Amino acid sequence: MKGVILAGGTGSRLHPLTLITNKHLLPLYDRPMISYAIEAMVRAGVSEMMLVTGGTHAGEFLRLLGNGHEFGIDRLFYAYQEKPGGIAEALSLAERFIDGDRVMVMLGDNIFEWSLRACVEAFAKQSKGARVVLTHEADREHLRHLGVAHLNGARRIQHIVEKPDEPPSEFAVTGVYFYDETVWRVLSELKPSGRGELEITDVNNWYLDHGLIEYDIVEGFWGDAGESMQAYYQVQDFVRANGVNRER
Ligand code: DAU
Repeated sequence: MKGVILAGGTGSRLHPLTLITNKHLLPLYDRPMISYAIEAMVRAGVSEMMLVTGGTHAGEFLRLLGNGHEFGIDRLFYAYQEKPGGIAEALSLAERFIDGDRVMVMLGDNIFEWSLRACVEAFAKQSKGARVVLTHEADREHLRHLGVAHLNGARRIQHIVEKPDEPPSEFAVTGVYFYDETVWRVLSELKPSGRGELEITDVNNWYLDHGLIEYDIVEGFWGDAGESMQAYYQVQDFVRANGVNRER
């Protein structure tokens, strides 16, 4: 399984900090934000990966990460996203790198307390389809800023709603996704959403509609450090006090 870490976009919710750098290069305690997503993948057992970024600070990633060896990466590739056309558009840039393999995708602003190794192993055992990682979130206002899973009685996901006014459950979809080789066809058929982006939630709903999605619910802390200034500092405080990507 290969990995793709997405670190493009405008980071507009963290303006003015992100006017002068890429969001994923901002500090989280003692390291740039992107290093936590890389550590999460490497500790989960994925060590060949592509970093997708864009904008005027793309070169700084090369300066930070180089060939990736210091971060435990075997082979690190880079792609440049010309415009922030959405998470799914950024992922499509990795098609030739993945080259028919399976892929673990991680948003570069997502932070997990515990290792994702069990999710990687579960997807390796899954015969086909996709896998998403959910987290329990009781705060309805927070859920309105995320993708939320609509679970039916049998605890299957029925549908995922992106940034719902009325959250259909207390389970948010985090920024970790696993896909089989079908994903490139799904991506090529996507239409832009109302906000003009290719949405990863539409990809996940395609797999759901075809009965091809499984999920995990992670324990412990999860945060999206790019969601708002308040979230950035909540994540910051957690990382500093407890450490993240911990192995049991
Ligand atoms: O963090 C979890 C949430 O991430 C999910 O619950 C949502 O379902 C999912 O859509 C996503 O929502 P966000 O509003 O947080 O997405 P955002 O636009 O902030 O982009 C997330 C990451 O993807 C960010 O770290 C940078 C990368 N990205 C984003 C865009 C729009 C790119 O690489 N290229 C892009 O064009």
